[in-house]
Amino acid sequence: MILDKIDQLLNEVSNLSAQNADEIEQLRLKYLSKKGEITALMADFRNVAADQKKVVGMKINELKQLAQDKLNELKECVGTQKKAEDTPDLTRTPYPIRLGTRHPLTIVRNQIIDIFQRMGFTLAEGPEIDDDLHVFTKLNFAPDHPARDMQDTFFIETNPNEVTKNVILRSHTSNDQSRVMERQQPPIRVICPGRVFRNEAISARAHCFFHQLEGLYIDKNVSFTDLKQVLLTFARELFGPDTDIRLRPSYFPFTEPSAEMDISCHICGGEGCGFCKHTGWVEILGCGMVDPNVLEACGIDSTVYSGYAFGLGIERITNLKYHVADLRMFSENDVRFLQEFQSAN
Ligand code: PHE
Repeated sequence: MILDKIDQLLNEVSNLSAQNADEIEQLRLKYLSKKGEITALMADFRNVAADQKKVVGMKINELKQLAQDKLNELKECVGTQKKAEDTPDLTRTPYPIRLGTRHPLTIVRNQIIDIFQRMGFTLAEGPEIDDDLHVFTKLNFAPDHPARDMQDTFFIETNPNEVTKNVILRSHTSNDQSRVMERQQPPIRVICPGRVFRNEAISARAHCFFHQLEGLYIDKNVSFTDLKQVLLTFARELFGPDTDIRLRPSYFPFTEPSAEMDISCHICGGEGCGFCKHTGWVEILGCGMVDPNVLEACGIDSTVYSGYAFGLGIERITNLKYHVADLRMFSENDVRFLQEFQSAN
């Protein structure tokens, strides 16, 4: 009789199922709690005939073990079902993701780098904080040159009682020229993009920091014609094949002769418009043949080698390409402004 009951329970227990933790608890109460069916069997066990006790006892233990195993198994299943719900469904269509954009200055800088790299220039970078020797002296700035003046250059206080004029936030990327020449003998063919600083009041047309890209080419028999051809190719690559260039005489302490380069206004095609102030030309860079004094100061024999250099403002070129009216937009991180460049990426 009791054996029949045990068999029936064995059968029941081996087929148990549950959907959640509550149902499992109900099953535990039904079979294994103090008032549960298996506990009740223990009470009946007392009345079992002595010669049956061994068999019945073993059966009851088997049933108890099975019930416990089964409940543990159900608990695990319910646990993993829950986990399965938390795992992301990788086949689902994604939420619309808002893509970021590259900063317009980065976009234009990369375009410029790409053009010069295709012409065989390699990249070099110099320090933003530098000394007088590399920013000015080696570049042939006379000791009293106005560009060293506090008006233009940020000098850094290293001693609170004294502003030493030797630690400088570079005011142009030309410090990279002196550093490259110092460590490398010709042939040299590098471009050096970077941030520069000038002590100017911040307005729509000026900022206390901006970005330049310096180019330097030194070898035997380098002439002004080489410079002109490289710059013409650059201008046409960047602004289109119809672009013309014009070189106007200028002055920089580190180049002789020096020039400023204009490109034909790509808005009016050179006819004259508000953008080019009705001249048909817009200025984009400074350039020239490296002054022999600079070569000598940097350890390069100026009787054997010659070279050219140029420096351009990345903000200026970005403005020409994208007509950004206010220079401050570049450093304000306004997402609406940045997103306008999504397609340019
Ligand atoms: N360093 C110059 C400037 O900041 C630009 C320049 C670089 C001119 C190299 C000539 C040669 O204006």
